[in-house]
Amino acid sequence: MTDQKPLTQRDEWKALQKHYEETRNVHLRDYFAADPRRGEKMAVEACDLYLDYSKNRMSEATLKLLIKLAEAVNLRQQTEDMFTGKKINITEGRAVLHTALRAPGSERIEVDGVNVVPEVHRVLEKMRTFSSRVRSGEWKGFTGKRITNVINVGIGGSDLGPAMAYEALKSYRHKHIHCRFVSNIDATDFVEAVSDCNPEETLFVICSKTFTTLETLTNAHSARRWLLDAVGDKAAVRRHFVAVSTNDREVEKFGIDRDNMFEFWDWVGGRYSYDSAIGLALMIAVGADRFDEMLAGFRSMDEHFRTAPFEQNIPVLLALIGIWYNNFYGAQTHAVLPYNEYLALLPAYLQQLDMESNGKSVDRNGNRIGAYQTGPIIWGQPGTNGQHAFYQLIHQGTKLIPCDFIGFAQSNNPLGNHHNLLMSNFFAQTEALAFGKTREEVESEGVPDFQVPHRVMDGNHPSNSLLAVKLTPRLLGELVALYEHKVFVQGAVWNVNSFDQWGVELGKVLARRIVPELDAKETPQLAHDSSTNALISKYRRWCRD
Ligand code: F6P
Repeated sequence: MTDQKPLTQRDEWKALQKHYEETRNVHLRDYFAADPRRGEKMAVEACDLYLDYSKNRMSEATLKLLIKLAEAVNLRQQTEDMFTGKKINITEGRAVLHTALRAPGSERIEVDGVNVVPEVHRVLEKMRTFSSRVRSGEWKGFTGKRITNVINVGIGGSDLGPAMAYEALKSYRHKHIHCRFVSNIDATDFVEAVSDCNPEETLFVICSKTFTTLETLTNAHSARRWLLDAVGDKAAVRRHFVAVSTNDREVEKFGIDRDNMFEFWDWVGGRYSYDSAIGLALMIAVGADRFDEMLAGFRSMDEHFRTAPFEQNIPVLLALIGIWYNNFYGAQTHAVLPYNEYLALLPAYLQQLDMESNGKSVDRNGNRIGAYQTGPIIWGQPGTNGQHAFYQLIHQGTKLIPCDFIGFAQSNNPLGNHHNLLMSNFFAQTEALAFGKTREEVESEGVPDFQVPHRVMDGNHPSNSLLAVKLTPRLLGELVALYEHKVFVQGAVWNVNSFDQWGVELGKVLARRIVPELDAKETPQLAHDSSTNALISKYRRWCRD
């Protein structure tokens, strides 16, 4: 329970509402014209990131009001509560300590009177030993062959994080070990992933916090069958399967050796977990040193978030700017646009991080939230591909879509002039979105009259620009921690529990009920609604055709 006053009844909220009414029609052109140094002033450099937030429909006064709101909800205290292990996941009675996963060994963070940091470091050490044995070839498959394929089997947080990070750091990977990620219960995912793998050279990392997730367990059983069909000896399982879980009993039941299990803890949320043992496949791919560099990046952003004044605090700034659009401008979505192919999966990863965390309509006191919006829809894909797909709507559609542009000064794959061309698009898009093209400018180009209205670009479309030198393991850690904390700040202001996900449970329960109805030989008595009954009947007829 929290004693937060209803958000919209706070003076700070009302002041923002008033400020919105007064400033909503100010154009970014006017903001920039009024202050020639705006682009330098509304920017922050911290950790290894440069955030330019000047192309937002706000002034320094707006920011001050937003910061007052953050202070009013006691953001600093809420942050400390998270970092120090208070049980802020109130519906599950758990601490929220993903930050402990990257805490230095010297730190002391207690849950129920027990310092969790030594456990974190013990598991990290176990991961280091195991991953270096796989990388060096010392760890062999059952028939004595080297491991060349590592297949991560998991879903949600047990898939999206390691898959995104593997993709992001692919240029650092071991050249003879290929990682794949199987998540979907659709057999196609598994079948395609193993289609060109030799079972004798394949290691499965079964990742599941609960070790009860239907998709993961189904895929894991298929993987075991696939292995045993090839090698024909159950003893092979211990050379080809390891598990990452909080549930040792279920892991053992599956047949995976305790020694081959890497623990994590109920105080790590699935979507906040890829820097725990859930990142084992990643560590095998990039090596323990790179993984450590990544953890150092996480740590540096944690430190920045915990200590920097709000007006220079990158996660706080991004969160408050997001609140400004979500709650006052009524923006429904937020686009993440990385100008780096290695970050192709970042929008999908952030979708879970943000939408599973803040997709809530009941506050921490159990009251229905009617008066304000909570989490936005997160979406996006890498530039420049997105430019040729959906940017048209951002530029000229009827919706307001705030965007985060993410780019780097140096390419991981320098080739000819590619990188300058890529980044010129980044800069050009943020410029075009903000300033558009006026009727006068269009007319002065001598375009036919009938085209003029179609070619006018209103501009005034907001964006944040995040720029860094290069995508490295450290930088990736900083970036992910930045978004973790952004989500935290927004949840803290909206007074929601960002760390549970009851909404996804109902679908799981209903699916389990329907399975026997699809499996049954005899036509079952269906007692769903008429639509679901008809769909199941049609499916039963067609799958037997
Ligand atoms: O989608 C619901 C969810 O519980 C996610 O929060 C979680 O990341 C995913 O399922 C997988 O859960 P587990 O790691 O327990 O298999």
